[in-house]
Amino acid sequence: MSDNHGTDVSVAEHGDTPEFPLPPHHHRITDTDPKAAKRAERQVAAMFGLSALCTIGFVVAYVAIPTDTFIALGPIGIVQLSNLVLGLTFGLAILLIGLGAIQWAKKLMADEEIIGERHPLGSPKEDQDAALAEFQTGLAESGFVERKIVRRTLIGALALFPIPLIVVLKDMGPLPVDSLNHTIWRKGSRIVVDVTGKPLRPEDLAIGTLVSASPEDLDKIQELEGNQNARAKASIILVRMRPSDIKSQQSPEGQTWDYQGILAFSKICTHVGCPIALYQQRQHSLLCPCHQSTFDLADGGKVIFGPAARHMPQLPITIDSEGYLVAQSDFQEPVGPSFWERG
Ligand code: FES
Repeated sequence: MSDNHGTDVSVAEHGDTPEFPLPPHHHRITDTDPKAAKRAERQVAAMFGLSALCTIGFVVAYVAIPTDTFIALGPIGIVQLSNLVLGLTFGLAILLIGLGAIQWAKKLMADEEIIGERHPLGSPKEDQDAALAEFQTGLAESGFVERKIVRRTLIGALALFPIPLIVVLKDMGPLPVDSLNHTIWRKGSRIVVDVTGKPLRPEDLAIGTLVSASPEDLDKIQELEGNQNARAKASIILVRMRPSDIKSQQSPEGQTWDYQGILAFSKICTHVGCPIALYQQRQHSLLCPCHQSTFDLADGGKVIFGPAARHMPQLPITIDSEGYLVAQSDFQEPVGPSFWERG
């Protein structure tokens, strides 16, 4: 007989190779006793079947157990019930497939010892044919075709196995869809100091100052948006400089997005999203503490140093009828890191 690498193999009998004598070969009970073989087959099928049940249990637990349920587990302490059950069911599903495969190989697959004599590697046509023939023989000997219950339960277990991986994708949250392109800034949104919520008038900002700000009624808007991303995306900084110091803005020709030298920019670095509020008033530069990207706020927020690939988005501002600073509109481009930037 020859294997698929051109190696001559032969079924070894005790003492048939004097240089490398093999220990006596003991036949397994499943080779000689059909009842034992049947029992082993049922054990393997039970393990694959239990694995499938564990996978189903994982999905049920994921849907049914609230994440705010905790239990006390002796010395381990308080644990989240859903995590515990998900871990156990997923772990058991993997374990039982592994144990079933081991049991199948040890008890039911062909139990022959062979000697292989090594030759240079190569795959002539006849060896490939021989390999294919051997594969067919192995398939027949493994019982994969004839032991239907084992085959079906294994296929069932393996088919269900990827489901938990798909289900947990839900934890990544809703698809962003269009939300990456917009923030909660609207035409007329009043600009308030970030921490105190105090609405700002132009006279509150002296030349050279920087203020972290956000839209008024942020909490109410955030409730509507339903998550913290709205707050993060809407964070801005306001700086004031002499109007004559402004070299350029991001506004189209003929429009101004500042108000008497007060400029508003996103607070989220366009590199990988750190919040920025380090301002060098003489150079009008904004410095990101994470990787030192530096932006020239007097020149449309353009990058003058560091790894950021995109300028800081500018928020168009003006004042309302009561003299408070307000947004003219939402940002005209996405805020935040540019790795998801549109082509
Ligand atoms: S996050 Fe700002 S430079 Fe990297």
